[in-house]
Amino acid sequence: METNWLDVKSKLGTIFYALSQKIDGFDKDFNPEIRVADPRFGDFQVNGVLGFAKKNKKNPRELSEKLLIKAKQFEDLADCSLELSGPGFINIRLTSDFLRQWVNTFCGRCNFKQWLAGKTIVIDYSSPNTAKQMHVGHLRSMIIGESIQRLLQFCGANVIRDNHIGDWGTQFGILIMAVKRENFDITAIDSATALDEFERLYREGVALTKQDQTFLNEARRELVALQKGDLENLRIWETINTVSYHAFEKIYSQMDVAFDYVLGESFYRDKVDRICNELEALGIAEKNQGALVVFHREHERFKDQPFLIRKSDGASNYATTDLATVLYRWENFRADTIIYVTDGRQQDHFQQLFLTVERWFSAKNIPLLPQLKHVWFGTVLGEDGRAIKTRSGESIKLKQLIDESIARARTIVTEKNPDLSSVEHEKIAHAVGTGAIKYADLSQNRTNDYIFSWDKMLSFDGNTAPYLLYAVARIHTLFQRLDISPHGRREPKSMADFLTPEELALARKLVDFPSTIAQVLNDLKPHDLCTYLFELASEFSTFYKANRIIGETEDIFEKRLLLCQFVLHVLETGLYLLGIERLEKM
Ligand code: ARG
Repeated sequence: METNWLDVKSKLGTIFYALSQKIDGFDKDFNPEIRVADPRFGDFQVNGVLGFAKKNKKNPRELSEKLLIKAKQFEDLADCSLELSGPGFINIRLTSDFLRQWVNTFCGRCNFKQWLAGKTIVIDYSSPNTAKQMHVGHLRSMIIGESIQRLLQFCGANVIRDNHIGDWGTQFGILIMAVKRENFDITAIDSATALDEFERLYREGVALTKQDQTFLNEARRELVALQKGDLENLRIWETINTVSYHAFEKIYSQMDVAFDYVLGESFYRDKVDRICNELEALGIAEKNQGALVVFHREHERFKDQPFLIRKSDGASNYATTDLATVLYRWENFRADTIIYVTDGRQQDHFQQLFLTVERWFSAKNIPLLPQLKHVWFGTVLGEDGRAIKTRSGESIKLKQLIDESIARARTIVTEKNPDLSSVEHEKIAHAVGTGAIKYADLSQNRTNDYIFSWDKMLSFDGNTAPYLLYAVARIHTLFQRLDISPHGRREPKSMADFLTPEELALARKLVDFPSTIAQVLNDLKPHDLCTYLFELASEFSTFYKANRIIGETEDIFEKRLLLCQFVLHVLETGLYLLGIERLEKM
């Protein structure tokens, strides 16, 4: 089988489009719209004829009949059975012969590196603000961002992972004031409690500024001094950032997340003036009550809600920094695409940013605008359906959350499998504990809110990380028992066709893997991958119960083992793409 059959759905799209162009009545605007079909009717369905016929005032049944005749004569479709259905659909069923060839060709050879080869993609994720601990609000950007960046690399992109930390905000005016008022010895700080201390100092500083205007003025003076390069203030600022990032890194290493760059807001502090001047000179930004703003007058909502890029006191802000950041990523990384992973409340900001960049870059005659994408997500809710909080109403610290998950996983796995060594228990607890948090997040459509539930995410039944990890471990056990490596290619002397309903269903599910990857790449929504992996694992479980492997004749043994190997490979790849550590034993 030719390698361009890897993604069957997309290959069918190409074929049906090409066939249609040889038929009277179709034109170049026809889109076959191949969909994965209800298994009772087939594997795929050509859906596009109906819409096309309607739009062009033609008879859909007639058009699809012509298309069907052409398709039946087409050699490449000889291993598919085709039939007309309903008012103008074509059902496609892959024959057992097709499935055997497909599985045999692509087992261990699902390579998508061509899909994004040559593309440079900057992905901006996690990006917390410094001087504070990471809390549950920082969970999703880290998890979703990590998964997406893995997927992009897997599909061949040159990915640049940039942690755009908020390290130059107004919080530093207050913090520096508080540090100085307390004569707080910043050099002697204990790294274990440092962030607690900074949070306390910040709270006390805020309380002061609310009490008395003079403190507010003092905090502002400290901020201005910092921004002007005052050495003492810079030293305090730098210590706070170093300590903060150190704490972030502990979480990143626990969660297996890493970055190529940490170019936070402070990195752009000497690059923002150029932006304001340029935008003003190009007539894109205008003065408005002392501030500098960009109006998008053609836009329904933004026409009277301008994008503020310099405040009336002359200070730049989040927007100015982000404009400078786009320019930097374009000039230095030659980014084809820039992806931002933040919560949904920043949608307006990014829409205005993208509109502004579009006008700005086209005014600069930059021909190839980087594609800008905002990958946003909803809120993590508690079991009561409200934003998740501790009992005392504070944000839950990420460190506590992760530690608790690992501890709960440890209890479960020790109970389930008391005979393993403590080193093994620890390894499994870590994979299950961190994996459960990640999977619970990624398996939800990211634009929805979701309810955080320990019981659900740590359950071994249902669409969860433990379920998938267990499925993987089970296949490993089989290979261990046979003393055969699950990696490397098997070249069986003979291999029977897939005959049992479970074999056929499993092979068909494997065929959907590449189109699932294509789908996730398109929407940047990992939950479709989760659903797919869960269905594959369930299909495998059914197959494994009903189809014997050991003790069958060689040709049956080989075809079933090949299925096991392929399923293992896809499940492991899938878990890797979700950022979840895999286990051979559980
Ligand atoms: N620091 C910001 C926050 O905590 C997120 C930054 C996202 N990236 C960006 N380029 N704006 O909300």
